[in-house]
Amino acid sequence: MNIRIATNRDLSDVQRVHLCTFPEGEREIVSTLAMNLLLKKTTPKTISYVAEIDGAIVGHIAFSPVRLDSNEGFQGYILAPLGVKPDYQKHRIGTKLIKYGIKTLSAMGINVVFVYGDPKYYGRFGFSAEAAHPYTPPYKLQYPLGWQCIVLNEIDIENKPVAITCVASLCDPQLW
Ligand SMILES: CC(C)(COP(=O)(O)OP(=O)(O)OC[C@H]1O[C@@H](n2cnc3c(N)ncnc32)[C@H](O)[C@@H]1OP(=O)(O)O)[C@@H](O)C(=O)NCCC(=O)NCCS
Repeated sequence: MNIRIATNRDLSDVQRVHLCTFPEGEREIVSTLAMNLLLKKTTPKTISYVAEIDGAIVGHIAFSPVRLDSNEGFQGYILAPLGVKPDYQKHRIGTKLIKYGIKTLSAMGINVVFVYGDPKYYGRFGFSAEAAHPYTPPYKLQYPLGWQCIVLNEIDIENKPVAITCVASLCDPQLW
């Protein structure tokens, strides 16, 4: 299995990963998000990786930047979406994509990586709801316990709830 940066040429494969991975009702919006994150330039840059086996794309992960309006020095990212094609699940591909991304972001000096997902899965990688407590997500969450983060490089933040701002592609309440 090989992990590499995704490019515009991977658009339809990335779309397919999420269309065949997420359940009815979520697959359209998640695959559109994955494509938008690949297409739309952001500052700092959005990072998308694909996992390939024998030249075929079987998994995808994206990390896009988040800001704290109250702290310009804060460098954060959010992990979304992540998908591994059903036939390839449970072979640690998701684990490798997450660990690869976190290692890269840590080396870049990123302070915090957020995720909104199943704590039973993301808890394995050190994400925790407790660590995310000071950070207010951009929309009201259907599953507040799914809001988690991992601190990669410590930073002092104010001792009160701070709002995070996402890239435009994630500014859709249906995704939260
Ligand atoms: C979640 C997902 C990315 C995991 O990818 P994967 O390559 O199968 O993951 P890994 O092989 O690294 O890890 C598999 C383990 O995670 C567990 N797991 C997968 N999804 C889980 C979940 N939602 N909650 C808890 N555990 C989960 C598996 O049961 C397996 O456990 P085991 O190691 O004890 O056998 C993949 O199942 C997927 O694409 N699911 C549908 C889309 C999705 O839910 N994406 C995440 C959105 S938050």
